[in-house]
Amino acid sequence: MKQAILAALQRTEDYVSGQELCGRLGVSRTAVWKVINQLKEDGYEIESVPHRGYRILSSPDCVTAEQVGSMLSTVWAGCRIHYFETTDSTNNEARRLAEHGAPHGTLVLADFQENGKGRRGRTWSTPRGTAVMMSLVIKPELLPDRASMMTLVMGMAVAAAIRELCGIRVSIKWPNDIVADGKKLCGILTEMSCEIDCINYLVIGAGINVNLSEFPGELRQKATSLGLLTGKKVSRAALAALCLKKFEFYYERFMETQDMSLLQKEYNSLLAGKDGAVRVLEPGHEYDGISRGINERGELLVEMEDGTLRCVYAGEISVRGIYGYV
Ligand code: BTN
Repeated sequence: MKQAILAALQRTEDYVSGQELCGRLGVSRTAVWKVINQLKEDGYEIESVPHRGYRILSSPDCVTAEQVGSMLSTVWAGCRIHYFETTDSTNNEARRLAEHGAPHGTLVLADFQENGKGRRGRTWSTPRGTAVMMSLVIKPELLPDRASMMTLVMGMAVAAAIRELCGIRVSIKWPNDIVADGKKLCGILTEMSCEIDCINYLVIGAGINVNLSEFPGELRQKATSLGLLTGKKVSRAALAALCLKKFEFYYERFMETQDMSLLQKEYNSLLAGKDGAVRVLEPGHEYDGISRGINERGELLVEMEDGTLRCVYAGEISVRGIYGYV
């Protein structure tokens, strides 16, 4: 009920009468009044005017289930939302929930991670109250060797959400970093539970630097935030909700062909360093070439000196002269 009242208040800048809320939700005036008081305790500024109703004046910058849920306009993404003030890692929470049967579209959000995970065993740490840290459980009917493309799909969703909400055009560093100004803004970590021929579930985790005002030590040269880029405070809940909406859109397109065919062109238009020099770092082997964008399987095409194309599936790729953090 809290989420429904919040959604009703957030949908308009005008007053919403107590009577209307009671009618819509089928509850008593006292019940509505109690929820309004709870919301005030949670940090929402709500004006109550006799004979007119309630009007929301400001919301706290939180990513609670009610706040994100009240802003969601999706069909299945975020159908269940679990919020933690503190957790080890939202990816871990999402995996635990998935192991206990959480449905496709379950979302985990946290305000702080004690043991946030990055790719390749690295850690991911952001101060409380400054980032979007979210993990989505999905259960696609897809062969396991196609799962890594879901990272690209989430990258596109985050880039599109940032563009719509903040008005800035960010790029994607293949396969899964969102970058702006040559610095990292968001990282994505996809984890999978599967059998040989089917996926049990995927957990797609995204960490977006939203309102961080500074970064420690050497991260200063490598990382940035939406707050630093726009000079404004950005609503973390609005961003999380929009990322889910965009993810749902790109996911449906992806599933039509079970590959990047329908998304390839747009992904390549967002790709940082496309048609520029890249160095591919593979275990025990590195080589240089020109990045020519992804193919329909999500692999990066790298043109060699002799004009042949190599498809890069895994491996770290660095783009010379563009990224401060590589
Ligand atoms: C990377 O760039 O190395 C990937 C970073 C992924 C971080 C996010 S934050 C939310 C989710 N939970 C985690 O523990 N990791 C991901």
